[in-house]
Amino acid sequence: MTESRITQLYPSGVLDPSRALDPSRTLDPLHSAEAPDARSEPAALTDDDLLALYAAKKRWQPRVLANFISSVDGSASAAGLSGALGGPADKRVFDLQRWVCDTVLVGAGTVRAEGYGAMRVSAVAAAWRLTQGFAEHPTFAIVSGRLDLDPASDVFAAAPVRPIVLTTAAADPVKRAHLEAVAEVISCGENTVEPHQLVAALTERGLVQVHCEGGPSLLGSLVAADLLDELCLTVSPLLEGGAGPRIVTSPGETIELQAMRLDHVLLAGSMLLTKYSRAR
Ligand SMILES: NC(=O)c1ccc[n+]([C@@H]2O[C@H](COP(=O)([O-])OP(=O)(O)OC[C@H]3O[C@@H](n4cnc5c(N)ncnc54)[C@H](OP(=O)(O)O)[C@@H]3O)[C@@H](O)[C@H]2O)c1
Repeated sequence: MTESRITQLYPSGVLDPSRALDPSRTLDPLHSAEAPDARSEPAALTDDDLLALYAAKKRWQPRVLANFISSVDGSASAAGLSGALGGPADKRVFDLQRWVCDTVLVGAGTVRAEGYGAMRVSAVAAAWRLTQGFAEHPTFAIVSGRLDLDPASDVFAAAPVRPIVLTTAAADPVKRAHLEAVAEVISCGENTVEPHQLVAALTERGLVQVHCEGGPSLLGSLVAADLLDELCLTVSPLLEGGAGPRIVTSPGETIELQAMRLDHVLLAGSMLLTKYSRAR
């Protein structure tokens, strides 16, 4: 999975109209004046193309977008981490999605497992964000009931923007006090972080473009509350074998099936990068 070149399969497969097929040309390759490859090769997407595909259509309308990767057989991790499932193309999209959000929302399980550091974008991204009405860096928002987070870690100590910790009223007061020295700590429910309160707390602070990077428990809470607006799902061309979790873990309740609409399908080698929107 070394392919970073990304093309678009759906909707059109052709972003630049000048590269569209001329309908007057014959489609029969035996009688075509041009080689078939020259007629059908889709353009590689630029970073600007990708930013346009992932930016919100309405900048100030609250949106919760989640980005996940899964093996072909449905696993969200390999040996406890998602990294082995990815590749350069998926990493490229993952990074660019941070360019077009106000906040990166992550569950504490993923922060601990994946070893997150400070939420800081590149200098190029920071400059670009300012021209688009975003703060230089997204605000890191972490969901945790137990508050088992190290206030001295880079997540907090090296943060360019004071992070937010979304927790419960029942959280340990000593751990909470330690985190309050380095982050804004907000209660969003009594014994569990209630997803509607979580999203409201972010939007009240102007953090309307919410980009959720996981993990499965947090996504399960958002889906159960019908708060997920868009899902970017990368299908990695690997078989994991069944030991890992799905991209979404149920918080317990059975939910009504929620319809999704396909927005786009991109291709990088054998990896598919899809985007769906909730059809409400
Ligand atoms: N494939 C992918 O795209 C992808 C993406 C992200 C993560 N992952 C993988 O997923 C695994 C981690 O899974 P996970 O389910 O533990 O991840 P998670 O959802 O990030 O973390 C779960 C933890 O987040 C907190 N949390 C989430 N929802 C909460 C709620 N409603 N109320 C209170 N606390 C809440 C709790 O933290 P406390 O324990 O602190 O109370 C909970 O233990 C790792 O292997 C990681 O590599 C995969």
